[in-house]
Amino acid sequence: MHAPSSNRYTAVAILLHWAIAGLILFMIWLGWNMEDNEARFQLHKSIGIAILFLSVARVTWRWLNPPPPLPDDMTPWEKRLSHGVHVGFYALMIALPLLGWLLVSTSKFQVSTVLFGTVSWPHLPFTEGLRGGVVHEVTEFLHSKGAWVLIVLLGLHVAGAIKHEIAAEQGVFKRMIPGLFGRAHSPAPARGYVTAFGAAVLLFAVIAAVPLMKSSPSSPAGPGTTGAVPAEAGNWEIDPATSEIAFSGMYQGKPFSGTFSRWDANVLFDPDNLESSAVEVEVYPGTASTGTMLYDDTLQGGEWFDTNTFPVVKVSLINFAASAEGGYRAEASLLVKEKAVNVPFDFSLIIEGDTATFEGTTTLSRAGLNLGQQSDPGGDWVADKVTVTVKGTATRKE
Ligand code: HEM
Ligand code: HEM
Repeated sequence: MHAPSSNRYTAVAILLHWAIAGLILFMIWLGWNMEDNEARFQLHKSIGIAILFLSVARVTWRWLNPPPPLPDDMTPWEKRLSHGVHVGFYALMIALPLLGWLLVSTSKFQVSTVLFGTVSWPHLPFTEGLRGGVVHEVTEFLHSKGAWVLIVLLGLHVAGAIKHEIAAEQGVFKRMIPGLFGRAHSPAPARGYVTAFGAAVLLFAVIAAVPLMKSSPSSPAGPGTTGAVPAEAGNWEIDPATSEIAFSGMYQGKPFSGTFSRWDANVLFDPDNLESSAVEVEVYPGTASTGTMLYDDTLQGGEWFDTNTFPVVKVSLINFAASAEGGYRAEASLLVKEKAVNVPFDFSLIIEGDTATFEGTTTLSRAGLNLGQQSDPGGDWVADKVTVTVKGTATRKE
């Protein structure tokens, strides 16, 4: 008696084959059906990157666990064709996601990628200069036509599998269907779990770490105030625990809102001396938080707040006047990137002893502040008007 030589794929190879096959078919459908639907774009990118790493694991696994030899009754040209189709598949499993990644990296619309809503994914390095150029067009062509090449290969692949099944040959199906249904001999013992999956996970982790290193909000050097309030001249201390700067607007017809978690204010305010009252605020737009990572990442990008180059938005309130409703109106000057804008800012203020409670609001125009003007100048996705609300409490300084 001798043990029969294995003629089945390992369980891992089978699992990866069917998982990737299913995902790829879904991806082709998704690619053709995501017009103007940002959620579908994000899903397409997320699954595509997942396929990339599953394929890295799969190729490494195959290298450590060679597939069972092809049935003897296959003619040499059948073997060559089958082999060619498999090589083509592996090439596309790696190339299509890479082309997709290059496609989004070279797009002139710098839309962020957040995998499955949780992992910020960087653009490919050295692609800044290629945005919107010929490389982008060629990549778009290859990514789209690559899917058709894959469909042709799939036709050959499935036809081959069926042919061998019905032609009363040894057949190949049972080699690739989950063990429960397989009637062929068990596969050889598998090895290389750690190498194959470890390599894929490590590569993924290294790339995913890039945005994490960049996104720590950097403090500007030295006191950066424009000087309307001298650094130590403030007479009110804002209580950060009870105060917030919030913003809200509409995205694809749905409301969104968020807050800036880091900002500093220097307040010199005296209701009896409005002429010399002034407020200086420094807001760190890199700390904008909406509860949706895609929005937060997008806000940091070049055509939005460009937080790497401009970590601080400066706001000065001057020219205070008491309004008829018992509140106040000030003139707010904003410096967003290199764009200066003046808007009126109405707020209510109640001073009880040494505690002041305030709430104010103003409406800003994205176009006016040059935010997101490349990908969405018409406000088709993100409405042009954004409401900013500032509220909280302050304590009188000694
Ligand atoms: C996009 C979808 C698919 C892709 C990318 C794909 C890819 C592959 C690859 C690369 C191999 C070779 C494994 C190796 O030896 O390294 C393979 C084997 C196999 N696939 Fe698929 N496949 C897909 C869909 C399907 C479908 C729909 C069927 C069902 C008819 C199928 C049946 C098989 C079978 C039976 C084998 C084993 C062939 C053999 O024993 O040599 N595959 N597939
Ligand atoms: C195996 C993986 C993938 C498959 C099978 C796939 C397939 C497709 C298909 C069929 C289309 C439609 C093309 C057309 O309109 O003719 C498409 C579009 C697109 N894919 Fe992929 N894709 C994959 C991975 C990725 C990845 C990883 C990304 C980005 C990280 C990506 C980004 C895009 C983008 C941005 C488009 C829209 C292109 C445009 O209309 O200009 N894809 N994809």
